[in-house]
Amino acid sequence: MGWEFQLPTKIIFGRGSLTRLGENVNAKKILLVTGKGGFREQVVKKIRKQLGNIEITVYDRIEPNPTYQSIDEGAEIIEKNGCEMVIALGGGSTIDAGKLMASIAVNKVKAYDYVFEGKKIEKKGLPLIAIPTTAGTGSEVTPFAVISDKEKKLKAPVRNRQLFPKVAVVDPEFTASMPAELTANTGADALAHALEALWTKKAQPITDYLALRAVKIIFENLKKACEEPQNMEAREELSLASLLAGMAISNTGTGPAHAISYPFTTHFGVPHGNACSLTLPEVMEFNALRSEKINRITQLYGPERLRELFKEVRLKTRLGEVGVKKEDMPLILDGVVKSTLEMNIAEMKREDIVEILNKIL
Ligand SMILES: [Fe+2]
Repeated sequence: MGWEFQLPTKIIFGRGSLTRLGENVNAKKILLVTGKGGFREQVVKKIRKQLGNIEITVYDRIEPNPTYQSIDEGAEIIEKNGCEMVIALGGGSTIDAGKLMASIAVNKVKAYDYVFEGKKIEKKGLPLIAIPTTAGTGSEVTPFAVISDKEKKLKAPVRNRQLFPKVAVVDPEFTASMPAELTANTGADALAHALEALWTKKAQPITDYLALRAVKIIFENLKKACEEPQNMEAREELSLASLLAGMAISNTGTGPAHAISYPFTTHFGVPHGNACSLTLPEVMEFNALRSEKINRITQLYGPERLRELFKEVRLKTRLGEVGVKKEDMPLILDGVVKSTLEMNIAEMKREDIVEILNKIL
């Protein structure tokens, strides 16, 4: 047995942890990347107040599944204004976008060339502080960013050590205003991260501990948080689970459920968490037959329990519900991200994916 584990991100966790932001900022000019919406504007005000005389430029045009165009736009602002640091406040889309802006502004490449053309980045980007407002993506502690090309309907993940945020400020209070649907979606994403970390080739003792703990927490709290949005204990637990699952995938990557999920999002508009949860029980069954470790895990958290949980939190569990028909299969199969699929503990062929998709038609 041999393995390594790397996580350079400093993590500050707990209700009210935003008050610790100032002590981690060392810059005169900052780009603050965020999305639109009342609650975020309140937090931006708080950040401005806390950071006093630091010059803050706000970029708030990030949408779900951020595009390469918005990344270039943000990087240009960084250059023009001479920003020395980036703060990303929002869900996974915002944090991913912030990571890439901070990186490409220094490396002077176009986002499209980097994400879709395989152009390399070598220099360390500007320091990034990630402040998640959902509990699911784990992007605050990963070296990944997922970017879309809306015209060509492409969505691709990139991995680079340089993309690890410098600091993650995880304040569960920010997740309190999430509606049940978003709570369910992001929670399912975190659960997909935890399970996929367990069945990747790179799984190892530390990532297994992190992932198993996250799975347990999500099973115990996701339904509660969806039904009682004000239940701060459940919210706090889910923020923790999302963080632990993010730490696990930061070192293992994800697997088949993610690999197959991307075309559901690009072609059928399925939110990322639900796009992953669609095939998660079937991927689990597939791997349980091929791995003693996964088989043991299914004794506790089997595919039936997964399906039950997803129904309870009103996620869509069949392809028909999200508008995918039998004749769409080739489109889905062509959109599977091969490099992610290959991370799986057992080889999964095209015909295996067809079988999985047929089971959930
Ligand atoms: Fe994910």
